Amino acid sequence: METNKTFTMIKPDAVANGHIGAILDKITKSGFKIVALKYTALSAAKAGEFYAVHKERPFYSALVDFMSSGPIVAAILEKDNAVEDFRKLIGATDPSKAEEGTIRQLFAKSIEANAVHGSDSDENAQIEGSFFFSAFEKF
Ligand code: TYD
Repeated sequence: METNKTFTMIKPDAVANGHIGAILDKITKSGFKIVALKYTALSAAKAGEFYAVHKERPFYSALVDFMSSGPIVAAILEKDNAVEDFRKLIGATDPSKAEEGTIRQLFAKSIEANAVHGSDSDENAQIEGSFFFSAFEKF
């Protein structure tokens, strides 16, 4: 299992608010190398599949609606200790609890519209990266 890769999405709120450039800049300045990148959108079915682990949670249906409400940016990032370091960089799920200087503290407005996704394990980083990218799209 690789330990130097993670997967991220810039979510519809951050794309709509014009933060793609600032967020990618913060990611690369924090030492992550972009090895795959895509401007795309999730259908409701695809968003539901991506977040299937949360199917039974009360916020699931609102989350699926939100994640399919507009374009997103998907990326695979490379760095030593990528998953853990990226979770630190994005901050807590709820932006009001995220540390100063984290991406969610800077760019997110609510727990649902929280600007970015970051994989929570090496295994999920692999699964989520493969959800969006073929072998020919990773460099
Ligand atoms: P989760 O995996 O708990 O958080 P994280 O993205 O920090 O790994 O939840 C996935 C997404 O679900 C989260 O980014 C936003 C959404 N969500 C809500 O809308 N409401 C909630 O109460 C929670 C916990 C999450």
